[in-house]
Amino acid sequence: MYQYQCLNAISEAGLSLFSEDYQRTEEMAGADAVLLRSASLHETVFPEKLKVIARAGAGVNNIPLEECAEKGIVVFNTPGANANGVKELVIAGMLLASRDIIGGIEWVKAHAGEENIAKTAEKQKKMFAGQEIEGKKLGVIGLGAIGVLVANAALHLGMEVYGYDPYMSVDSAWNLSRHIHHVKNLETIYQECDYITLHVPALDDTKGMIDREAAGQMKDGVILLNFARDLLVKEEDLIEALETGHIRKYVTDFPTAGLAGRDHVIVIPHLGASTEESEDNCARMAVREIREYLENGNIMNS
Ligand code: MLT
Repeated sequence: MYQYQCLNAISEAGLSLFSEDYQRTEEMAGADAVLLRSASLHETVFPEKLKVIARAGAGVNNIPLEECAEKGIVVFNTPGANANGVKELVIAGMLLASRDIIGGIEWVKAHAGEENIAKTAEKQKKMFAGQEIEGKKLGVIGLGAIGVLVANAALHLGMEVYGYDPYMSVDSAWNLSRHIHHVKNLETIYQECDYITLHVPALDDTKGMIDREAAGQMKDGVILLNFARDLLVKEEDLIEALETGHIRKYVTDFPTAGLAGRDHVIVIPHLGASTEESEDNCARMAVREIREYLENGNIMNS
């Protein structure tokens, strides 16, 4: 699906395609531009004439940025193009963590074919009782394109929203509702919020930011959501907090061997931007950026 959308966007833009398979690198030798989503691009496979790389997505951690800078290769991402897809999955994650929808569905599956399933279900359903999110406090760490959408959606669902971002852009500030508590430090988010959702990139100063000390400051029974990057969370410290119940649930879009299948964890296989709409938006934005740069030397974002 995604590859098809990229190919479509490329041909609509009138650009020619060297290879549709990133592993067939020898065929890309003459390419001026590389468009990629989740594959990692290593310097050793850089096509010789390469001038520009566009990542169809927000994160650029699969691109060797330093080597690109040394070689004068321009790197684009597509900020905001998949933000709505990610926002919708974050809201779904919050609901999945609050209501035992997964447990209920699994129970029904296990009893499929039973004549009296409706009656048994009525007796069993107390096992799957949950909580509503309305009136609860949500802390949004990182108020970029995705964080702002999540904050505004949560407000519409009746949550009280706290937002933290020391580097908020003018665009984000403009899009941010005045009904959000804009706090100046993470401690306030940790101490106040029933749900905390991460929307910052994995940089040197954010990697491992959710460690034992941060978890210790959070409210007892907090639900933590991570649809940003797995490296933000120190897994061993998280597991410790999950085992004591201090963090009640962890919802993540990043499967790791240590978390998959673990109790109190909901792991999604990186589906945040996997919607027709987000994929199409990203492909088109990436192709526009490449074309604008190759044809006019313009940098739409970097
Ligand atoms: C992103 O970096 O945009 C997200 O992780 C979504 C994705 O790449 O699929």
